[in-house]
This record gives sequence, structure tokens and C-alpha cells, in this order.
Amino acid sequence: MPHAGKTIPVAFLLGVGVLSSPAGHAQSQAPKQAPVQNWSFKGPLGHFDLAAVQRGYAVFAGVCASCHGLTQVHFSDLAATGLTSAEIAALAETWQVPDGLDGEGRLKHRKANPDDALPPPYPTPQAARAANRGAVPPDLSRITQVYPGGADRVFALLTGYGGQALSTATGGAGGFANPYAIGHRTAMPPPLRDGAVVYADGTQATAELEARDVTTFLAWVSNPHADSKRRLGVGVALYLCFLATLLVILKRRIWSHVRK
Ligand code: HEC
Repeated sequence: MPHAGKTIPVAFLLGVGVLSSPAGHAQSQAPKQAPVQNWSFKGPLGHFDLAAVQRGYAVFAGVCASCHGLTQVHFSDLAATGLTSAEIAALAETWQVPDGLDGEGRLKHRKANPDDALPPPYPTPQAARAANRGAVPPDLSRITQVYPGGADRVFALLTGYGGQALSTATGGAGGFANPYAIGHRTAMPPPLRDGAVVYADGTQATAELEARDVTTFLAWVSNPHADSKRRLGVGVALYLCFLATLLVILKRRIWSHVRK
């Protein structure tokens, strides 16, 4: 009976499918559709607003970095945002990176240099979980690429908190209400508020601008070569147009002596 083994799991899955999809329940858990934002980096002719990317780094370093890693990024990568190497060296020095063990087996740290990657905030996922109500803050290196809804949803999540924390006392899961999170709750406390960072360029740091800037920064981090690729694409398109015109002229010349 080679088929008997297969029928049972299929029937079981169908059963589970029917049982677990009462429409109302599934709908209330789905994250709300994030409003579409008008990002400078959107579309084939878009480009990153590098001042916003630099301000976004300040928000990441000042706020998000205490919980989230950005381990795919090296300090030297920030040169592409318009920082000089002296500025990058100064900025790297404000971070501590792990540097082996001391004589008693404790983790040693040293100041980061431009060749280092940004250090993760917790030594292990267990430590991250213990510090964040059982949730692990994801690494943000590729978040706008991998997060369904991309930059629009990251921005919506950061600005979409409903208010107070959800209580665990009544048997709820705890965390914070946010319609853009899965299940409309997240373990991340509202990270931004007006004046959470001081911008070097003197821009007034409102919570909304901080969210916009850090999202722009994270989109740049996820795809740092997007601008040069777009420029190359436009160049190639113009070149092909030029070549096509040239070929038409050439073809007319070559065939000009042939009567129609
Ligand atoms: C106090 C720690 C903490 C800070 C500060 C923090 N986060 Fe989080 N973040 C978390 C935790 C914990 C989660 C996982 C939430 C969950 O799984 O419910 C998370 C999840 C996320 C997610 C994914 C959301 C999802 O639905 O999976 C994004 C995007 C994010 N954070 C961005 C940021 C940004 C940007 C900042 C800085 C402005 C920031 N976070 C600051 C703790 C933090």
C-alpha cells in the first residue's frame, strides 16, 4: 500500500487549513498596509539624499544600535555617504569592538577602526532574547530588502505605535500595540521621540524626521550601490539610443543607391 502513508498527512493538512482559517481571525493578525511614501531613492531615476543618509546613521547609532546589529556594514563603507576618512576614523572610535579574551577568559574590547564591521549589540542570541522580552531584535543590514513592505513599512512601524504598552497581567502576550507589526503587537518599545538625537547639521530632530532619516539610511545600507547602478543604467540607455540612430543613418547611406 504505497499510497496510504501519503493520504493521511494530506487529509491532516487540509483539516488544519480549514480549522485555522476563520476569516476574521486571519485578517486581524495581518499587518496593516503601510502608506506609500515619496522616497528620493524610489524609481529608476531616484537617488539617495546623502544628507538624510548621514542623519539616519546618527539615529541608528544613537538609538537603534543599543538593540540592533548592522553587522554587514563596515565603517569604511560610510565613505560613500560623503564622509571623509578622518570623519570615519573619528566616528569608528566611538564604538567598542570585541578583541579576544583577557588572561581570565573575559571578553576584551578595543576602539573600532575604519576596517571593522559594526559590532553586534549582544554577544549571543540568548543574551538578546533575555534583554527583549523573549524576542531577538533582527540585524538591520538588509531589512528594507527582506522586510515585506520594505522602506514604507519600516517607516510606518516606527511611527505607528498606538500608545501604551500591552499588559501581560491579563494573560496577554505583552509588548506594544502597532498595526504594522505581525499580530499587531511588537516586542520593540517605541524607539523614537522628538529630540532623541542631535543632528550635526542643525536640523530639528522630530520623531517623524528621525524615522524618515533612519529608514533612508537603512535603505541605503541595504543597497549602497543603487545610485551608481542607476547612473550606469541611464548611461547605457543613452548610449544605445545614440548607437541606434547611428545605425539607421548608416543603413540609409549603404542602401541609398538601390532604387525602391
Ligand atoms: C530596546 C531595544 C530596541 C531598540 C532601541 C530598537 N529596537 Fe527594533 N526591535 C527590537 C525588538 C525586540 C524587535 C523584535 C520585535 C518582535 O519580534 O516582536 C525589533 C524589531 C524591529 C524591526 C522588525 C519588525 C518586525 O516586525 O519584525 C525593525 C524594522 C526595527 N526593529 C527597527 C528599529 C529601528 C530603525 C530602531 C531605531 C530607530 C529600532 N528598531 C530600535 C528592539 C529594539
